Parts: sequence; C-alpha cells; structure tokens
Amino acid sequence: MYAETEPGAAAERTAFRRAEKQYKLYKPPSRKGRSKSRSRSLSLPSLSAILSAVVDFHALLAAGKGELPAGIRRCDRAGFHLPVFCFLDRPGFYFIPGALSTEEQCYWIRESLKTFPQPPNRTNLTATYGPISDLLIAAKNQKILVEVESSSGKPRDEQNNVGENAHPGKFKFVDDSEIQKEERPKSTMAAALVRKLRWSTLGLQFDWSKRNYDVSLPHSKIPDDLATLAKKMAVPAMPSGEEFTAEAAIVNYYGPSDMLGGHVDDMEADWTKPIVSISLGCKCIFLLGGKTRDEAPTPMFLRSGDIVLMAGEARERFHGVPRIFTEGDQQDISGLVSELSDDDDRFILDYIHNSRININIRQVY
Ligand code: OGA
Ligand code: MN
Repeated sequence: MYAETEPGAAAERTAFRRAEKQYKLYKPPSRKGRSKSRSRSLSLPSLSAILSAVVDFHALLAAGKGELPAGIRRCDRAGFHLPVFCFLDRPGFYFIPGALSTEEQCYWIRESLKTFPQPPNRTNLTATYGPISDLLIAAKNQKILVEVESSSGKPRDEQNNVGENAHPGKFKFVDDSEIQKEERPKSTMAAALVRKLRWSTLGLQFDWSKRNYDVSLPHSKIPDDLATLAKKMAVPAMPSGEEFTAEAAIVNYYGPSDMLGGHVDDMEADWTKPIVSISLGCKCIFLLGGKTRDEAPTPMFLRSGDIVLMAGEARERFHGVPRIFTEGDQQDISGLVSELSDDDDRFILDYIHNSRININIRQVY
C-alpha cells in the first residue's frame, strides 16, 4: 500500500530486484521457531514457499534417473566425466554439481586467501594500503599492519598533517610488541584485513571504475593449475574442437551480509567462450535472470565445489548472489570442516565458516 512513496520503492520495481530483496530478507527457520512470526510481520511469503522455488541440483542428482522438473534437463557431454544440468529456455548456462572434491575445494580456498591476493594482483585493499604481500601468513601470525610512510613520502614521525590520502602511503606488518602506542589508531590487524577482502584479480587486471581490462597494469599470468582446471571444466560449454584459454579471473570474497547485485558480464570480446565460475565455502542463492531486470530470475543453490558455466546467450543474462548462508547447519560445509582439521588450517577453517569464495575465470580475447 505504501510502496510508491517508500524510499527505495523505485529500485524494487523490477522482478529481479524483488527476488533479490526476498532472499536477502529470508530468515532460516530457527530451532525455537521464532522466525515464522517474524516473517509474517514482514509480510513475506511463507518460508517453505520461498525455498521450495530454489532449484537444488544436488537433490536432482541424488534423485537419480527419475523425472526432472519442467524446463530442466541433463546435458552431459560425451568425453566429459561429470553430470551436467541445463535449462531448456536458458541456452549457454550449464551447472556442474559437485565438480570439485573436498580436497580440491580446500586447495582452492587456501590459494584464494594465500596466493591470489599477492601483488602484482590487485585487491580491494590495494587502493587504501598499496600492494600487501603475505597477508594470510601475517594474519596467522597475528601481525599488525602499520603505516611507516605517509602518502607524501615523508616518514610518519616527520609528518604533522597527513590529510586525505589520494595515494596510499607505505605500510608494513609488525608484531604487537613493536608497535608504539601513538601509532595504534593507524594500525590494523592482518586478520581483520583478510575479513575485509572483497575481491582480487588474477591475470589481466580488471578495472572496476572503467568496467574494463586495463592491459597497461602489471600482471602475472593465471596460475597453470587454475588455467588447466578451467580448460577441463569449460568443455560442456565450448564450441566443439575449441579449447578454453584462461586470461583473467576475478575472485569474490563474501562475508555473512555481503551480496552481489544483479549484473551482466559483457566486457570480454568473445561470448562464445564461457565464464567458468567456481563456488567455495558457504552455500548461497544464485539468481539467473533475463536480458532485462524485468524478467523474473530463476533461483538456485550454489554449494562448495559446484561449477557454473555461462556462454553465448547466457552471457547477456542478469545474474547475482542475493544471499549466502552462514547460519547453523545451512552452510553445507561439513566436508570442508573435516578436511580442514589440521592445526595449520585453523585460520582458514574459522574464515570459511561464515564466508563464500567465488573464482570466475574468463577468456578475454
Ligand atoms: C561475478 C559473478 C557469481 C558468484 O563475479 O561476475 O557473477 O557466484 N559471481 O559469486
Ligand atoms: Mn557475473
């Protein structure tokens, strides 16, 4: 009734935005059963109606050779070793449930936190702190990042007015004992910085402000093992006889309340090549929409180890992640938890309990 006058109402006028909002506000049923009345007071559709609409490819796979829901079919490829699902009315979209073993998932989670944020790769932290090396090791060793030289180039203790930083100063990791009291406001725990990671870019560096690849930025090539994995997993979406070449990758790190709004990835020259998108850590809801936000999106669960391919026509579709599940037993990470039982993995285990990582790999040219 108040929809037209409420602030933000205009933003929810499209079917895609309405779906995003619905899943964002969704509260999993609590053990005490309190969420039921809460959802009613927000006048949301019933919990079971919301979740029963979410396509669960793991459940479809477990159900075996029985009938699939309308509009969904198997599109396994001869010579490709894993089951593949797709939608009849969304050509170019492929879902490979459980593509990675638990061991492989752990390997890529470690790489995402340890290797991928290493310079010259940029992260969301680079603009503030400049290149940061060995962030994960520093976090495990409870180091603290302090500014040793301000953006104007003078050592901090010769500065009386630091002002707004247009360019980052110089920062380094130190032990708690090395740090002077007056420096404390300018310092940040390495562990807190890992939590603040939102993205890192591998290979050709993506420029978020220009929404394009900046080939003038220094970069290293995509790690061989990641390129090999992408080539192998891209097969169901590749034109026959062609091979996928990984040239760039964007790694997204999601904390409990993070989401990725609906968008289209159209910055690569050749849309016949898929984006290979790997999910790690907590389960999420992924929305696959149409070519405008007016088309109602199809929601589906993405779990750790799942791989999605988007090629051809599917490249023009709006998609996003409105919700990740970090509560109770909703995360679906029990496999990871037992695999990360080593003392050395303590930090990573803590991190992944309420985080999701997405590695999406692209052939740019
Ligand atoms: C992206 C993207 C989806 C995901 O980074 O462009 O669509 O699963 N990511 O996080
Ligand atoms: Mn995308």
